[in-house]
Amino acid sequence: MGGLLALVILVSSSLLMFPSPAASLPLCTDSRSPSAPTTPLTFCPYNGSTCCNSTEDSQLQKQFQAMNVSDSGCATILKSILCAKCDPFSAELFTVATTPRPVPILCNSTVLANSSQSQAETDFCFTVWDTCQNVSIFNSPFAPSLQGQAGILVNASFTKLTALWQSKGDFCKAFGGASLDESVCFDGQAVKLNSTEAPSPPKGLCLEKIGNGSYLDMAAHPDGSNRAFFSDQKGYIWLATIPEQGSGGILEIDQSSPFLDLTDEVHFDVQFGLMGIAIHPNFAENGRLFASFNCDKSKWPGCAGRCACNSDVNCDPSQLPSDGGSQPCQYQTVIAEYSANGSASQPSKAKSAQPIEVRRIFTMGLPFTAHHAGQILFGPADGYLYFMMGDGGSPNNSGDPYNFSQNKKSLLGKIMRLDVDNIPSVDQINKLGLWGNYSIPSNNPFTEDNGLQPEIWAVGMRNPWRCSFDAARPSYFMCGDVGQDTYEEVDLITKDGNYGWHAYEGPYRYASEGNTSVQAKNFILPVLGYNHSQVNNKLGSASITGGYFYRSTTDPCMYGRYLYADLYAGALWAAVETPENSGNFTSSEIPFSCATDSPIKCDSVQGSSLPSLNYIYSFGEDNRKDIYILAYNGVYRVVRPSRCSYTCPKESVTNVSAPAPSTQPSGANLLVCRYSSLVCLVASLWLFLCGNM
Ligand SMILES: *[C@@H]1O[C@H](CO)[C@@H](O)[C@H](O)[C@H]1NC(C)=O
Ligand SMILES: *[C@@H]1O[C@H](CO)[C@@H](O)[C@H](O)[C@H]1NC(C)=O
Ligand SMILES: *[C@@H]1O[C@H](CO)[C@@H](O)[C@H](O)[C@H]1NC(C)=O
Ligand SMILES: *[C@@H]1O[C@H](CO)[C@@H](O)[C@H](O)[C@H]1NC(C)=O
Ligand SMILES: *[C@@H]1O[C@H](CO)[C@@H](O)[C@H](O)[C@H]1NC(C)=O
Ligand SMILES: *[C@@H]1O[C@H](CO)[C@@H](O)[C@H](O)[C@H]1NC(C)=O
Ligand SMILES: *[C@@H]1O[C@H](CO)[C@@H](O)[C@H](O)[C@H]1NC(C)=O
Ligand SMILES: *[C@@H]1O[C@H](CO)[C@@H](O)[C@H](O)[C@H]1NC(C)=O
Ligand SMILES: *[C@@H]1O[C@H](CO)[C@@H](O)[C@H](O)[C@H]1NC(C)=O
Ligand SMILES: *[C@@H]1O[C@H](CO)[C@@H](O)[C@H](O)[C@H]1NC(C)=O
Ligand SMILES: *[C@@H]1O[C@H](CO)[C@@H](O)[C@H](O)[C@H]1NC(C)=O
Ligand SMILES: *[C@@H]1O[C@H](CO)[C@@H](O)[C@H](O)[C@H]1NC(C)=O
Repeated sequence: MGGLLALVILVSSSLLMFPSPAASLPLCTDSRSPSAPTTPLTFCPYNGSTCCNSTEDSQLQKQFQAMNVSDSGCATILKSILCAKCDPFSAELFTVATTPRPVPILCNSTVLANSSQSQAETDFCFTVWDTCQNVSIFNSPFAPSLQGQAGILVNASFTKLTALWQSKGDFCKAFGGASLDESVCFDGQAVKLNSTEAPSPPKGLCLEKIGNGSYLDMAAHPDGSNRAFFSDQKGYIWLATIPEQGSGGILEIDQSSPFLDLTDEVHFDVQFGLMGIAIHPNFAENGRLFASFNCDKSKWPGCAGRCACNSDVNCDPSQLPSDGGSQPCQYQTVIAEYSANGSASQPSKAKSAQPIEVRRIFTMGLPFTAHHAGQILFGPADGYLYFMMGDGGSPNNSGDPYNFSQNKKSLLGKIMRLDVDNIPSVDQINKLGLWGNYSIPSNNPFTEDNGLQPEIWAVGMRNPWRCSFDAARPSYFMCGDVGQDTYEEVDLITKDGNYGWHAYEGPYRYASEGNTSVQAKNFILPVLGYNHSQVNNKLGSASITGGYFYRSTTDPCMYGRYLYADLYAGALWAAVETPENSGNFTSSEIPFSCATDSPIKCDSVQGSSLPSLNYIYSFGEDNRKDIYILAYNGVYRVVRPSRCSYTCPKESVTNVSAPAPSTQPSGANLLVCRYSSLVCLVASLWLFLCGNM
């Protein structure tokens, strides 16, 4: 295990040193997601998902014709190189670190020399040289002076490669490169991913119950240990030791001594509370931790911020219907920083922290009482704090009537990205009109997209309920986004992506077509989702809970699949991406059961042997990449399939030590709720995310 952890740390630190903007994610050079063009391309051979529209296609055609290449072999190659701009991986092909290139990275043979791939495929750079070296090209994209300055033509003239470059070696040193795990190169054809058959879905997910509490969030301890922080909606944060799998142990949480008690500050109600926690990646050294919660300004003086409804976003707070409280923006969303310094010799040894705010990172007044997400997460590759925010609701919790989600000036209905390691001066904060103590990462999308508030990373969210980064591919950032009447979606979040709400709900038009203020330009379809009619539950309602890419070796049949759930239906889905890195996901509902030797016996659904989780609030991941389901009925861990008698041929039964069976007695859980019990619903304070309720 130690070796595995070390490897993970190595991988992530090398990513920190060489940030790749798109690491294997289909993405265009302008940071858009590829999409199907409304008019098919006539020049470039890219069908389906492409980074070009017909205008750009004909521009490339003109550029190609202007090159006036007489040699047909070279012309074919040049056309393919120009058209690589349309490749769904063009961001990766044309971008090294943050510098755009005039031509894509041409596959050369260095790295793959001994691989099974043929030389012809891997030596494309040599092929370009061999075929084009004596051919005159007008405005050659291979001029050395053009390196790193895409699109800037120096002097219009005919040149041959031999006039520009001394040798094939020099040429390929400048333009060559190889496909590695985290990058792709261009070999004359559209980027081809290893086409793999979609493996058959796992037989089922085996769970063990290791805790009775209801938690909303979990964050692995950044020291790499077997500990994790858990937080609940009321405002408690606990530090728990996670038992070894198969040990029969349960979560060690001392309910009487929370790590941090924020219940005095937190306003706890149906959709209000402590919504998320984030522990600084360097917590072991700096002791920094962050909480995202709601507060009531009529009850706590520290709860005072600018209202998200203001004249910048065509909203008059004095006209707000009273649903937002007895005064405009009575309730606020807050990110506050705390410190574990001083309570132990080093932060890693700390067992508690003082509820004294070190710093207020963010405060914003909420116009209504629903849809304000609130999850916070540190990006594993960039170290920035991602902050998920819903559309803020409305008097009937539906529709986003002020169109906040599509409004680039509003922070509602957005995913934000903040730098909490560089805190600017008060003067600067005021000058920039920031909402607290953070700075703006220099490559946030506002630098390319005029009119965007600088905090924004992605737009068009309704209520992003639980996002995660893939532990194996940090550019894969997935979010469940709660739907309204029709469709629950999972989005693959990219920089400056627009996920449609409220012009679209999932793939369906929501706001009327004629309403020009709600045209979601270039909106990105969800990669996964389900219709409300597909979930069978007695509440007649649905609300997605986004999960994780499963990257643990515990259940090898789940490896690489994205696991997510429906809050109400208690249903789980596992999605597979084929080919890998394509963004093409296929999902199936996955059965689950409780390990017979579960340390805490699972409650079962009345009249069946199925375990009852009740509401699935959230998921968690520990330092071993094992996955946890945080449900109303408790904390469940995904364990070896054989413990539930699910067959998984990849599970090596031989090297698994027999788990010590648990002797925990079972008993009546007074808090057990049946889905049909409305009383329970109210008691649980979770009429939660679904808009039509
Ligand atoms: C792309 O579309 C054209 C015609 O629309 C078709 O001839 C061609 O085979 C398609 N190519 C691929 C790779 O699907
Ligand atoms: C094609 O894309 C370019 C660049 O994104 C954009 O300026 C142009 O309006 C688009 N044209 C069409 C027809 O969509
Ligand atoms: C391209 O070649 C054609 C004939 O081969 C010639 O008439 C034309 O002037 C050339 N264009 C340029 C820009 O040199
Ligand atoms: C490639 O294979 C050759 C012969 O099979 C071997 O001598 C050489 O060391 C290999 N190179 C690398 C980088 O593995
Ligand atoms: C290009 O010119 C070089 C030197 O004159 C010659 O050796 C080579 O064969 C030529 N290549 C082609 C493809 O014509
Ligand atoms: C173009 O060429 C001329 C003469 O060779 C030179 O003076 C000029 O600086 C060049 N222009 C650029 C933009 O490089
Ligand atoms: C292949 O590309 C790399 C740059 O990614 C370069 O360093 C290397 O020299 C190239 N190999 C050859 C044989 O030109
Ligand atoms: C493609 O598949 C081969 C063989 O399965 C594997 O060695 C190689 O790493 C894969 N390439 C990529 C880019 O995944
Ligand atoms: C997407 O995945 C499905 C099922 O795994 C597969 O049949 C289909 O060919 C894939 N589509 C593409 C474009 O790769
Ligand atoms: C906590 O300790 C670290 C390391 O000594 C220090 O850098 C940081 O400023 C301290 N934070 C607080 C809030 O005292
Ligand atoms: C919510 O209220 C708006 C405006 O009053 C209305 O148009 C809409 O139909 C309502 N939606 C629901 C689901 O009741
Ligand atoms: C969890 O709840 C069950 C059923 O109420 C009870 O038997 C068990 O003792 C509880 N376990 C813990 C650790 O609280």
